[in-house]
Amino acid sequence: MNKFNHLKGFMFSSVLVLTLLSCKNETKQDENVTETEPKPAHMIDKKTFGVMPDNSEISVYTLKNDNGIEVSVINYGGIITSLKVPDRNGNVEDIVLGFNNLEDYLKKPPYFGALIGRYGNRIGDAKFTLDGTEYQLAKNDGENSLHGGEKGFDKVFWNIEPITDSENPTLKLTYRSEDMEEGFPGNLDVEVHYILTNDNTLEVDYKATTDKPTVVNLTQHTYFNLSGDFSKTILDQEVSINADGYLPVSKTLIPTGEVRSVEGTPFDFRQSKSIGQDIEDKDQQISFGGGFDHCWVLTGDGMREAATAYDSESGRYMVVKTNEPAIQFYTGNFLDGTLPAKGGGNYEHRTGFCLETQHYPDSPNKPDFPSTELKPGEIYSSKTTFTFSTK
Ligand code: BGC
Repeated sequence: MNKFNHLKGFMFSSVLVLTLLSCKNETKQDENVTETEPKPAHMIDKKTFGVMPDNSEISVYTLKNDNGIEVSVINYGGIITSLKVPDRNGNVEDIVLGFNNLEDYLKKPPYFGALIGRYGNRIGDAKFTLDGTEYQLAKNDGENSLHGGEKGFDKVFWNIEPITDSENPTLKLTYRSEDMEEGFPGNLDVEVHYILTNDNTLEVDYKATTDKPTVVNLTQHTYFNLSGDFSKTILDQEVSINADGYLPVSKTLIPTGEVRSVEGTPFDFRQSKSIGQDIEDKDQQISFGGGFDHCWVLTGDGMREAATAYDSESGRYMVVKTNEPAIQFYTGNFLDGTLPAKGGGNYEHRTGFCLETQHYPDSPNKPDFPSTELKPGEIYSSKTTFTFSTK
């Protein structure tokens, strides 16, 4: 029996407001003050977000910290539907692309805010061989498989359990991906924690176990626009990526197998620069991606800085850390003004960017890349943090 079995079949209570930690009163340190006052409440709200075609209800859970940061998550796709962060003047605005209603999320949006699996990013020719058996996947991106197939983890129902006894407001999301779901072998039990801390960090922790050898590459597909104004492009926002090399790709965005130095190329983000600075460069790799849509090989290992992003106008600054070997930086090149924006209008070209921590794309077909294989008895474990401040 593995540690995920007890999670199956978890049932949820009806609409409730959970006050974490606030039950305890705290005595003030100052000797002159004798009365007690309540500790600021870490809250998790739960509300109805929408109703699925089969009449099941989708809820939105909102985590709040003491500094005005709020993150909302739905149990469809584990999607982060909004993330509200103050600018340098204390104005709290939503900085992630998404929709106002469930219906729009059901119309195949480009993975806005979603959890991605079983295999994030592309697998070439939509197939791979593991222990001598070939596995055929859905070709949902030309000839390739993208983000787990036709119905990846971004389109399934996740059980969500608010954790009331931890130090920080936390959501525990669980999902069992059945053996051969979307063509992948093994029952995969997945557990993701979204944790919002008072040092303004949103932590995403992933764990998974399997009962047959399989491949796993989980990530989070939030599109950021740090300006909080979705009518603006992200081209003036600045990004740094802690990487000396990146993975050049074929025309269909499958890594060639080479790790190429970023030195002297538009892919050099070792010093922070505006996203727009080199995005129209004549480099063939830029034309393949229609902008940046590549995987950078991160320097170092263990939990370390992967990337930063900064919007000089609002002052919002984000630091991304991870224990993953790589990060996909995607600049919203496929946004084309057809999807309705939360604040009105539509999401135009390059109005959001993604920083998706992960293993390399197409690893199951590239023996030289770090392995994405997970065997029975092993625990897949991945962690990414997004920390917000202003400057
Ligand atoms: C990929 C893009 C893809 C996008 C879909 C990104 O992770 O790198 O190529 O178009 O997801 O929204």
